[in-house]
Amino acid sequence: MFSDYGYSEEKKLGKAYDFRLLKRLWPFTRPYRIHLFCAVLLIICITLLELALPYVTKMAIDRHIVPDREISGRIVGDEKNRLLYADTSRKEIADLVRKYPSLFHTDSRGSGIALADVSKMEMTDIMVLRQKDIAGVGFLAGIFLIIVLLDFGLNFVQVMVMEYAGQGVMHDLRMKLFSHIQGLSVSFFNRSPVARLVTRTTNDVQNMHELFTSVIVFVFKDVFLLTGIAAVLLSIRWQLALICFTLLPFMIWISLYFSRQVREIFRTLRIKTSEINTRFSETIGGIKVIQLFRQEKANYKKFTVLNHEFYEAGMGQIRIFGIFMPMIELFNAVALALVIYYGGRGVLSEEVSLGVLVAFISYMRMFFNPIRDIAEKYNILQNAMSSAERIFLLLDTDERLSSPEKEPRLLQNIEHIAFENVCHAYVKGETVLRDVSFRITAGETVAIVGPTGAGKTSAINLLIRFYDPVSGCIRINGQDIRELDIARVRSETALVTQDPFLFSGTVRDNIVQGNRDFSEEKMMEVLENANCRSLIEKLPDGLDTLLSEGGSSISSGERQLLSIARAFARDPGLILLDEATSYIDSETEVRIQEALARLMENRTAIIVAHRLSTARSADKILVLRQGSIIESGNHAQLMEKRGFYYKLHQLQNRSSEDGAAPGISVS
Ligand code: CTP
Ligand code: MG
Repeated sequence: MFSDYGYSEEKKLGKAYDFRLLKRLWPFTRPYRIHLFCAVLLIICITLLELALPYVTKMAIDRHIVPDREISGRIVGDEKNRLLYADTSRKEIADLVRKYPSLFHTDSRGSGIALADVSKMEMTDIMVLRQKDIAGVGFLAGIFLIIVLLDFGLNFVQVMVMEYAGQGVMHDLRMKLFSHIQGLSVSFFNRSPVARLVTRTTNDVQNMHELFTSVIVFVFKDVFLLTGIAAVLLSIRWQLALICFTLLPFMIWISLYFSRQVREIFRTLRIKTSEINTRFSETIGGIKVIQLFRQEKANYKKFTVLNHEFYEAGMGQIRIFGIFMPMIELFNAVALALVIYYGGRGVLSEEVSLGVLVAFISYMRMFFNPIRDIAEKYNILQNAMSSAERIFLLLDTDERLSSPEKEPRLLQNIEHIAFENVCHAYVKGETVLRDVSFRITAGETVAIVGPTGAGKTSAINLLIRFYDPVSGCIRINGQDIRELDIARVRSETALVTQDPFLFSGTVRDNIVQGNRDFSEEKMMEVLENANCRSLIEKLPDGLDTLLSEGGSSISSGERQLLSIARAFARDPGLILLDEATSYIDSETEVRIQEALARLMENRTAIIVAHRLSTARSADKILVLRQGSIIESGNHAQLMEKRGFYYKLHQLQNRSSEDGAAPGISVS
């Protein structure tokens, strides 16, 4: 009878559903595809800009700072006699050549100075000689700055566009979940803890958002960046690039290995979060019972266990990342060492320019960032995938009542209602109603009495189709209610439950329940009929008093009166009343009884009566015991019969003489 609230259902998941999940998410992006497309374009531009940065550095070094033979074209000669040719067409440089005749060698190409000799000149003269280089470095620094600024700007636009789409998708997903949950049948909610559903629509959706933005960034930025860097490295010095790439297989293997480990841990973390939330909400909801029964310690212990499991899983995650991150760093360092060793040798042997080496080092650093990010992204991805799994699990729960195949017959007024051999069980095998049959015609009142747990509330729940009976059928005007438009039936009905639920909001909103065209006179009439006038006058802001969640800020008697007012406001043809069992002072009780009598006047009513006075005036009384109707008839007939009803009656009379709470539901 008790389920594990679906936790194990979640544990069972976890095969590689990732691709399938992404495919299911895809339709949600439909309204935002243009934004996504723009974001991707921007990402590509940004990546190109970022790729250009080390290249600009390389150009500055090879062209101007330490001019390279091949690149600058101004350096000629073998390794020992490399000459930097001066542009003697300019007067100040021609003057320099004349000033340092021993340093400058003149040949057919013009006057040149050995790179090593440049430092022998005076500082100001060096500046003059290398004027062009200084200007060139300045120009490239400017380009560098422009690229950085452009990168910054594009990044901002990209994030905004991407977020617009991401937030939009989440917004839609949340709406879909909400309307889906709202449409599920009542039996689903019997099994699902509130906190779990709340986690679904908040945390899990938030995780999807991260998935959405980071996966796209990952695919289009990191992968692109990695291939871009690899291509640049290969093109500027393929030998050096290949040496670095020998590390890649190890890194890929390590990333995959860790990813797999992380996935398991994430699943555990998610389940534990959900369980912790459930315990929290249960503790808060049941705080009175916990404090009254001094259950704090036991409850604390239960929470300690949960919290510890959560902690363990969290630590496991930290451990894995604690090894993984430094390992990637280690590889990065090894790769750098390789570059410095082989690249440095290349520079010394003049095979590689200094600019290439510097660029290589920068690219290597850039190369490892996405790899390290891959792990982080994978982290997010896993998190989001388990959220997605759970969201779709919920969206796939199609626990609804069957709707009629044909166009439902429009319900006119309710003429008669019949239960025909209705059997019901909430859990297979545990019958709650057995072969219940009765009939009621318009204007009549039927009272159902019986001990607690007899199935009285269940009968009412079936009539309003919160559940469908296991066998037998319920007919309204001869039509099976499963073939009727249940919304029509419900709109014809007012249900006053045993423990009326009021929403947080004003008293007025609670009474009118969304009915906008509700005049003030009508409201007054409703309050009058429901005996609520004095209650409303007592409230600080009258009809506009704000009620707390569940209406817990007013007494249960007042809640009942308000729920009767709510029933009046609907002006229904059928009243279903589940009388409250709680004790109410005699004055309030009289007010409630009066209001109820007025409500049932000229209406069809099925009432679950706990107080004898309510049952007495009914046209027909059904005595329900362990799910079966054991007696029926009006008050006089049943009293005459001296059966179960008579016994209940005697019992109640005795207890009210003793001054105890009235009630005939004692078994
Ligand atoms: N029940 C159940 N699952 C539910 C509601 C009820 O299994 N979601 C079971 C209860 O355990 C009970 C039986 O159904 O044994 C009948 O419940 P109900 O119709 O609510 O009993 P009432 O006659 O309304 O009892 P009371 O007078 O206490 O309101
Ligand atoms: Mg009940």
